[in-house]
Amino acid sequence: MSAPKNQAAWLKKADTPLEVGDAPLPTAGPGEIVVKNAAVAINPLDCHMQDMGVFVQQWPAIFGCDVAGEVYEVGSDVQRFKKGDRVIGHTINLVTGRPQDGAFALYSVVPADKAAILPEAISFTDGVVVPFALEAAVCALSLKEPGTAMLGVSTPALALPYPSLQGAKSIGKTLVVYGGSSSTGSMTTQLATAAGINVITVTGAKNFDMSKRCSASQVIERNDTSVVDKVVEAVKNAGGEFVGIFDAIGTPETYANDVEILKKLGGGHLACVHPPPGDLPENVKAGMIFAVNDVATPVWKEYVTPALQEGKLLCLPPPTVVGKGLEHINEALKISKAGVSATKVVVEL
Ligand SMILES: NC(=O)c1ccc[n+]([C@@H]2O[C@H](COP(=O)([O-])OP(=O)(O)OC[C@H]3O[C@@H](n4cnc5c(N)ncnc54)[C@H](OP(=O)(O)O)[C@@H]3O)[C@@H](O)[C@H]2O)c1
Repeated sequence: MSAPKNQAAWLKKADTPLEVGDAPLPTAGPGEIVVKNAAVAINPLDCHMQDMGVFVQQWPAIFGCDVAGEVYEVGSDVQRFKKGDRVIGHTINLVTGRPQDGAFALYSVVPADKAAILPEAISFTDGVVVPFALEAAVCALSLKEPGTAMLGVSTPALALPYPSLQGAKSIGKTLVVYGGSSSTGSMTTQLATAAGINVITVTGAKNFDMSKRCSASQVIERNDTSVVDKVVEAVKNAGGEFVGIFDAIGTPETYANDVEILKKLGGGHLACVHPPPGDLPENVKAGMIFAVNDVATPVWKEYVTPALQEGKLLCLPPPTVVGKGLEHINEALKISKAGVSATKVVVEL
């Protein structure tokens, strides 16, 4: 049988539309699988990669971090997957720079340790919202020692436990997730609560229900003029230990509120998705996540599939599917750039 033809949405130059064209069919090296993609998702990072070429190491580039599809090939040492398995996976072109490690193609290479079987009952377009956000959430919650996110910026080290399938027994700690309806915020809420952590979130008014579905104990409206005091009051009422804030947004407004909240609560961690603000009180330990990290491996291997199967991990925020075919990725990137609310932009392939 002749090899299938691969195609990709190529970025040839920063700030230009992606161009669909032929691409070499990738092969699976050790520790890798090749996935025949059925759906890919758009992340804000992809928009920056298209606009500015950030993280591009090799031109022309294929980027994108989230895939769902069927395993086409497994590397010689890969035991957890076989050809034909339905999977979701996190592609890591961001780190390797190799075009075959980008999601925006018909076939992509995924590290086997950043993939999981997708239960039959879950569609590819639902499942594809999970991978990058999942890895970001584990990086926000479970690193034990600060590492390096980028030159001069360390990663956070909240050292919180991994999510558990055994039911979330309270561990007496409270975390604030600022931006609870975002992709990273909602996934962090789900994983933290599944580890027994009490999570209080800040979201837009229309997304309270979604954040509650992620098991937030309390949701505070982002535009409430008393948002700082309401968060502080909610944390105090929760009792137990205040861990800190995961700020999934990282704007001057959210940073200013983070600092006020932390000051009023006697300090704590500030885990950010962008470089944290400067000039922080001494009792605040700040860091920025870098969402490609082996700390996520146990979650990928042991948690994702059974948690999806048992409804303990939900594919939230839900996808907005903008079309079928690689040529729809440009439109999807535009929609994502315009800003989304409690949804992830997805393209079917
Ligand atoms: N460093 C890393 O490794 C890493 C990894 C992943 C993501 N990121 C970054 O993290 C950020 C979030 O990514 P994402 O994919 O999670 O974003 P997203 O899902 O596209 O974020 C959209 C959400 O942001 C919420 N939001 C916007 N402003 C807010 C505010 N002031 N307060 C509370 N919520 C607010 C909106 O909430 P409402 O609609 O409810 O108002 C909306 O639901 C991006 O900047 C991304 O580049 C970094």
